[in-house]
Parts: sequence; structure tokens; C-alpha cells
Amino acid sequence: MDKLIIEGGVPLQGSIRVSGAKNAALPILMACLLAEGPVSLTNVPRLADIRTSLKLLNILGCETAFEGNDATSVCTGLKSEAPYDLVKTMRASVLCLGPLLARLGEAQVALPGGCAIGARPVDLHLRGMEKMGAKFELTGGYIRGVCPGGLKGAKITLDFPTVGGTENLLMAASLAQGATTLENAAREPEVVDLANFLNAMGAKITGQGTSVITVEGVSTLKGCAYRVMPDRIEAGTYMIAAAITGGELEIVDCPFADLDAVSYKLREMGVWLQEMDDFVLVRRSDGPLRNVDVTTLPHPGFPTDMQAQIMALMCFGKGAGTIEEKIFENRFMHVLELVRLGADVRLKGRTAMVQGVGKLIGAPVMASDLRASASLVLAGLAAEGTTTIERIYHLDRGYENIEAKLSGVGARIKRVPA
Ligand code: EPZ
Repeated sequence: MDKLIIEGGVPLQGSIRVSGAKNAALPILMACLLAEGPVSLTNVPRLADIRTSLKLLNILGCETAFEGNDATSVCTGLKSEAPYDLVKTMRASVLCLGPLLARLGEAQVALPGGCAIGARPVDLHLRGMEKMGAKFELTGGYIRGVCPGGLKGAKITLDFPTVGGTENLLMAASLAQGATTLENAAREPEVVDLANFLNAMGAKITGQGTSVITVEGVSTLKGCAYRVMPDRIEAGTYMIAAAITGGELEIVDCPFADLDAVSYKLREMGVWLQEMDDFVLVRRSDGPLRNVDVTTLPHPGFPTDMQAQIMALMCFGKGAGTIEEKIFENRFMHVLELVRLGADVRLKGRTAMVQGVGKLIGAPVMASDLRASASLVLAGLAAEGTTTIERIYHLDRGYENIEAKLSGVGARIKRVPA
């Protein structure tokens, strides 16, 4: 397994272009199952999870191609089974459930196991589709679903604004008979991007980005061309890279409007952010960083996917701050690794108490999940000495060309095969 070696202490200077959003591209690729014709996508990030999604589309009967950041898919004969040995490598595979039920009236999708950050159940996905007439049974580690007579529009109120649940239900409802209303729907920008893609295929969706989304079912969806939105979490990660190293970065193709909660907290800490014509300029303001309190919430609240990254920055802030993780039950795996670098972080249930220590000392650390890995990279960039990060396959799931992008702005970072 590869590892990253980082010599810290270099203030990053220069320009980083944000790639396409992993968490928009994944549902959009699953939505290709709904199209009667060819789909061509641009700005698709070259990531492990994207390659896994394309492999799943092949298994489900689509021909795909992936050149540079352009991907195409065309259904040549749909199959209804998503096998365990693929689903276990990527939980987002469960997003094929809605499209398969909508197109074929049946689906067998391996129940995605838990993952490092939590149980990640899909009960809300299933309960919503049951409201539309689907029937499910869980046998042999598979979710088997049927909907005799096809899915019917329904009024669905989600117990929690689940991102994946909203996405599965949007895809199912697009081809259902009649209208569907989703209440307490997720408002994440990636959900909006999926809805806009579905509309480009001929779906009739309104209200995306609000808590109430309405879908008027149609009989078919056609192929289309679509550009995936830029990745707000990648952008936020590189904003913190500028601040934590005391450098200055231009973040190009940055979806700044989708990062209000993050920019608000960074400004509160003393980070200077300025939206220019086609980039966002980021650096520390004069004077020390100050620690703040953060609570992760569904969008437009502070994103859980930025929690580990702001924790790394808070190690360099003055005073104490708290981080309350309200989305996932086990998303503090990076804490003990940051402590190995000299951080002062104490956990009390789902709240981390971070005491700024002003400096970190490089050491060997272990990545445990995607955003924890990003947090360790950020800490390593600012730490004195050498930080070695193992199990960086987690990182490759969500950050395209991370060492090239960081080396390009002065970081001393290299990937070595283990
Ligand atoms: C998506 O996961 C993202 N993944 C996650 O990003 C992100 O952290 C998460 O949304 C929250 O923003 C993709 O888009 C591929 P949820 P998802 O359903 O859809 C509970 C990253 O680092 N829940 O909104 O799985 C669940 O247990 C990844 O890029 C149920 O209880 O998130 C969790 O506690 C990590 N029942 C909470 O809701 C359900 O049926 C949020 O889950 C569904 C969810």
C-alpha cells in the first residue's frame, strides 16, 4: 500500500484548480441507468470511486468509457444485480437501487456494510421507496426489491435529510407514475447537481436545494451531455491548506457560494478569503488564528466532510474550541493520529475539545477514512519535520492528483510505494 511522505513547514503559494465533485459524480453516474440513450459527462474527477462506479455500470449492462475527465455511458441491456464484492468497496453503490427499480421493476443490491465512520444504514431509502409501491426483503446480505406495476408517485417525509436517501428517491420518482413530494429532503449542492442532471435528461424536478422537492414522473428519460459541478469539499480542504501553512492560494473553479458555512467559520478564525473573478484568494489574516466552536449539520450547516480538516487547523489556533459531530457516530478516527503529531484534542462523546498547541511535530501516522486522511495531510504540511501517512488509498477515493496539486504550490510531498 502506498504512503505519502511530507516535509512540513513550507507556506504554500500559487494556484490550485478544483476537480469535479466526487459526491455529485457518483449519483449522476448511477442516474445514467435511467437514460434510454447515451450520456456524456465532463469534469468527472479521476478517482477510485469513479472507476468503481463505472465498473458497476458495466456489470449492470452499460457500455462506458473514461478518457481524461470525460466519461460516457450507454445502457445496452440492463441487469438487476449489484454484487457484494463490488458494493463492499463503495457504499454509494446503493444509489443504483432507485434507478433499477424505476427501469426494471426489480433490483438486487448487496447491503452495503458499515464503514469506519458509522453504521450508515439505508432504512430511509427503503421506507421512501416502499411509499412508492416497492417491496423489499433483506436476505443473504442482499436488498431484494420489486415493484409490481411500477413505482407510483407519493408524498414522502424523511425522518432525516439523508443525502443518499434523497438522491435514490429522486431517481426513483423521476420515472414513477404521477407526482412525488419529498419533504425534509437534503439540500446539499450535490443533490441539486443530480436533480439538474435528471432535468437535463427530461425529468421534471422542482424545489431542489430546498427541503421540499417535487417530481412529476415521466415515461422515459433521454441521454444528454452534462458538466459535473466542482468539488466544494476539495476546495475547502485546499483553503485550509493555505491557512494552515501560512501561505496564499488561488482556488480556481471554486464553488464558493456552496461553502458559506465553511468560509464563515474560517473568517471567524482569522482566515482571509476574497472571491475574485474566477478564483478565491485565501491566506491568513494578520495576527494569530483564533479557535472557534463548530457543529456539523446538514447543508447549509457546517459540512461533516470538512470536520477533520478544520480540526487540523484548530491545532494552530489560539485558545480552545469544540467540534460537535452530529451527522456520523464515529467520525473522530483522525483525533488519535493528530495527537501523535502533538495535537491536544480530547473526546467527550460526539464532541472534540481542541486546545491550540501552536505547532505539530512530524511523525508516522495512519489514514482511516477519506477525510481523516485529508486532515493528516494538512497537519503534515504545517508540522515541523517529516510526516509519513500510511493507507493513503483512503485519500485516493476523494482527492484527484493531490500530491501533484500540492507540489505545484510548493509542498514537499511525495508518494512512495510501500
Ligand atoms: C453522503 O453520504 C456523502 N457521500 C458523505 O460523504 C457525506 O458525509 C454525507 O452524505 C453527509 O453529507 C456521498 O455523497 C457518496 P446521509 P450518505 O445518508 O448519503 C443516517 C465523503 O467523505 N442515515 O446523509 O451516506 C446515516 O447513518 C463522504 O465524501 C440513516 O440513519 O449520508 C448518517 O448518520 C463520507 N438512515 C446520516 O443519516 C438512512 O437511510 C447522514 O447520512 C440514511 C442515512
